Amino acid sequence: MRFEHVLVVGAGQMGGGIAQVVAASGRRVALHDEVPGAVERALAGMEKSLGKLAEKGGPTPEQVLPRVTPVGDIVGADLLIEAVVEDVSVKEAIFRRADEVLPADAILASNTSSIPITSLAAVTARPDKVIGMHFFNPVPVLKLVEVIRALQTSDETAAAIVALAEDLGKTPAQANDFPGFVSNRILMPFVNEAAYALMEGVAEAEAIDTIAKLGFAHPMGPLALADLIGLDTCVSIMDVLHEGLGDPKYAPCPLLRQYVAAGRLGRKSGRGFYDYA
Ligand code: 3HC
Repeated sequence: MRFEHVLVVGAGQMGGGIAQVVAASGRRVALHDEVPGAVERALAGMEKSLGKLAEKGGPTPEQVLPRVTPVGDIVGADLLIEAVVEDVSVKEAIFRRADEVLPADAILASNTSSIPITSLAAVTARPDKVIGMHFFNPVPVLKLVEVIRALQTSDETAAAIVALAEDLGKTPAQANDFPGFVSNRILMPFVNEAAYALMEGVAEAEAIDTIAKLGFAHPMGPLALADLIGLDTCVSIMDVLHEGLGDPKYAPCPLLRQYVAAGRLGRKSGRGFYDYA
């Protein structure tokens, strides 16, 4: 399957990045978001990102952006990639509606960080064609796509999504549908432990991040990374890990919850562990 026409629902930092890489591969993208102004902000972000990539030989904004069409609702396509907020009822509503609107042979994929793909598949009449396609932020730069098979996902669907990820210039890695999959099951305890180290006064935020950057050769420290991901997203992923795996070691650090309650969500709100004002 070539997936010539892709519907991306959710135009936040992930959805915008996904729409960009799909359009840059030559495909047509319909981009939908319920939040007023979200698609326009995503298009502005794409223009900036494509501008940087064009300097390194990538396609220009003028070549890619005309392939992205803002749409006011869920529309027909060969593939849905859903990238909305990590809320199971919002995602299920989108999967139900997409199941009605998209042709019967279309694949329905979610970019969820942690919501079970198996339960999203179960709300559709095509559970064998539902799959997780988990990109990493910043999507135009990071090469990984974690491909998550629900219990019901067919071999054909998995093979088609693996081939698509490769065609987008990404490297797919397959995982089964357990809480947090592989990526967030590894990443979130690391972020959480860094938050505990800060809360307990073991070290300042800069020192914690410097240790990870220079000591383990990570491109950024866990607290700066949490700010990039969004502290609210980190907490909701940790909640899913905690509930789904039933182990208290996954419970979010109280400091993370406190920051979220105060609206310190990371880069997107201007302040998280660091101040971006
Ligand atoms: N589009 C295009 N190019 C971009 C870009 C974007 N959105 N963001 C960064 N770049 C380019 C820059 O232009 C720069 O190019 P250059 O080397 O030619 O100048 C290059 O990438 C490096 O960027 P910077 O110099 O600004 O800074 P860094 O070297 O620190 O790189 C980073 C930035 C790519 C974000 C790097 O720090 C990084 O990889 N950090 C880790 C990110 C990570 O771990 N993401 C995963 C999060 S987990 C997730 O997403 C899953 C979810 O479920 C939680």
